[in-house]
Amino acid sequence: MKKIDLHDYVATVKDYPELGISFRDISPLMGSGPAYREAINQIQEFAKDLNVDLIAGPESRGFIVGSPLAYALGVGFVPARKSGKLPRAAVSASYTLEYGGINELEIHQDAIKPGQRILIVDDLLATGGTINATREIIEKLGGVVAGVAFIIELEDLHGREKIMEAGEVPFLALMEY
Ligand code: PRP
Ligand code: ADE
Repeated sequence: MKKIDLHDYVATVKDYPELGISFRDISPLMGSGPAYREAINQIQEFAKDLNVDLIAGPESRGFIVGSPLAYALGVGFVPARKSGKLPRAAVSASYTLEYGGINELEIHQDAIKPGQRILIVDDLLATGGTINATREIIEKLGGVVAGVAFIIELEDLHGREKIMEAGEVPFLALMEY
């Protein structure tokens, strides 16, 4: 059987959502059963030695990566939601995005118990703001970040360095652009 190259399932859209941004769209990857499964399998392989209690993913594309991974590993999934969506007591952190604006993420206070090991996943790492905000909340709740994993890393934006500045953690990116 032909080996799947995940690069074939990323659509690049120039100047979206703003001039100068090359948007890396994973919709084709999600839309292909074999490619989606291959991506999740590769992250599952990375997770297998990390002794993970929970997967966390930021809204919204982090849910697309995190939910099937949690199911495959047989662990729970913790959504980091954009502010104002969670009905119960939550902890928050704010961050800025590659294409402007300040955002805030929140996790329910009782979603993570002190000492639990969390793998944070998302579709794409750009500046690292989203992942570091997710990490900040997890650590405020006493969780331990066991690793971080992405389908795509945008190397020029140095998000990986930003993550490591907050403390070295195991890192996986399935593709680099
Ligand atoms: C995108 C992407 C990552 C984040 C990466 O999400 O899915 O979560 O940006 O950027 P960063 O590394 O600079 O923080 P976005 O906030 O656009 O939300 P969406 O998933 O709802 O589209
Ligand atoms: N999120 C932040 N930057 C992005 C990009 N260039 N493509 C897709 N999603 C993104």
